[in-house]
Amino acid sequence: MYLSREEEAIYQGEKGETLRRMMEILVALGDSYGAEKLVPVRSVQIAGVSYKNIGQAGLEWISDLRGTVAVPSILNPAGMDLCRWKEMGIDEDFAEKQQQVIDAYRKLGVAIDCTCTPYQIYDSLAGPGDHLAWSESSAVSYANSVIGARTNREGGPSALAAALVGKTALYGYHLDENRRPTHRIEVEGDLRGSDYGALGFLVGGMVRDGVPFFRLPGLQAQPSRKDLKALGASMAASGSVALYYVEDVTPAPPSLGEEERICLGRKDIDEVYAAHPSEGVRAVALGCPHCSATELERIARLLEGRKVKKEMWVCTARKTAEQNPHLVRIIEESGARVYCDTCMVVSPASERLGKIMVNSGKALAYLPGLAGVKVGLGSLEECIDLALGRR
Ligand code: F3S
Repeated sequence: MYLSREEEAIYQGEKGETLRRMMEILVALGDSYGAEKLVPVRSVQIAGVSYKNIGQAGLEWISDLRGTVAVPSILNPAGMDLCRWKEMGIDEDFAEKQQQVIDAYRKLGVAIDCTCTPYQIYDSLAGPGDHLAWSESSAVSYANSVIGARTNREGGPSALAAALVGKTALYGYHLDENRRPTHRIEVEGDLRGSDYGALGFLVGGMVRDGVPFFRLPGLQAQPSRKDLKALGASMAASGSVALYYVEDVTPAPPSLGEEERICLGRKDIDEVYAAHPSEGVRAVALGCPHCSATELERIARLLEGRKVKKEMWVCTARKTAEQNPHLVRIIEESGARVYCDTCMVVSPASERLGKIMVNSGKALAYLPGLAGVKVGLGSLEECIDLALGRR
């Protein structure tokens, strides 16, 4: 891979040991994927934050690094609400280790906004055509597909390397040739808001790491940003889709050709719900990906003046919660909890919840394997009805 004089100096260790190690990661990745060179990134989103996932070895690796990030960098959700971890049922040992992880990132200049929806709290991190180094799969999908930026799905070390160097290797989704659709998905029948998660769950399992191009029914209301967020998150989890298109909605693909055609309808989507019923559910968890202010508002309106009968989590970014204290108050007055910095999948606290009802195809795909719990799938309204004991 070609390195500029300055990059070569970093590679040779002239700018210190941490940068040398980071450049080594970028070059190794670039070489293995045939990248020609490095490219500057506008922002970085770093996975490898929950102590549940990275453990002691990860904590020591991060703590060993020196220096300051070269570009705006933000974290993925941690294993707990950084303020209300006790309420979640997190033990002291875990909390101490998790705090050490956060402190280690803070020392490197990373913003302590632990969220998978950085685009909901900062407009400045990504725009059309920008190169990024983001990690969390739903954020990657949203950046590539809805914003029209360019990012591979980085691992924790490669994202941190990109943050400290300010560059990433130019391969994969940074290049037009890898952004062409591989499948054409024809959807028949109307889709309700919550159906996008179920549709994504289905399509991700079919196209795996492909690039689907969706054609929605003619009279269908245009999917909202919330719908696109849910669609991309599910496909990234049930498959490993990092880029998709929706005709006349998202930025257009570089070209269309002979994509494999898949037809799906109402019956297919209903089967996803039917396979994940609500019987035996003990808790409800919303906010995968993290809730936007609009979603918090919808949840608040449905809970206002009522009391939940099951444990209920609503996960969001701390900034979103802080900017909407009235919505958080309404939700919490019902007995539900608004947890920040974390989520039902990356926190060990969800392991005690038993069977969980979600409205997210991503949580549906990940919770059984990562938290060892069973999962029911429903619309937002069904989830809330269940929490209120109406089902
Ligand atoms: Fe975000 Fe956690 Fe879901 S990181 S996308 S809320 S699994």
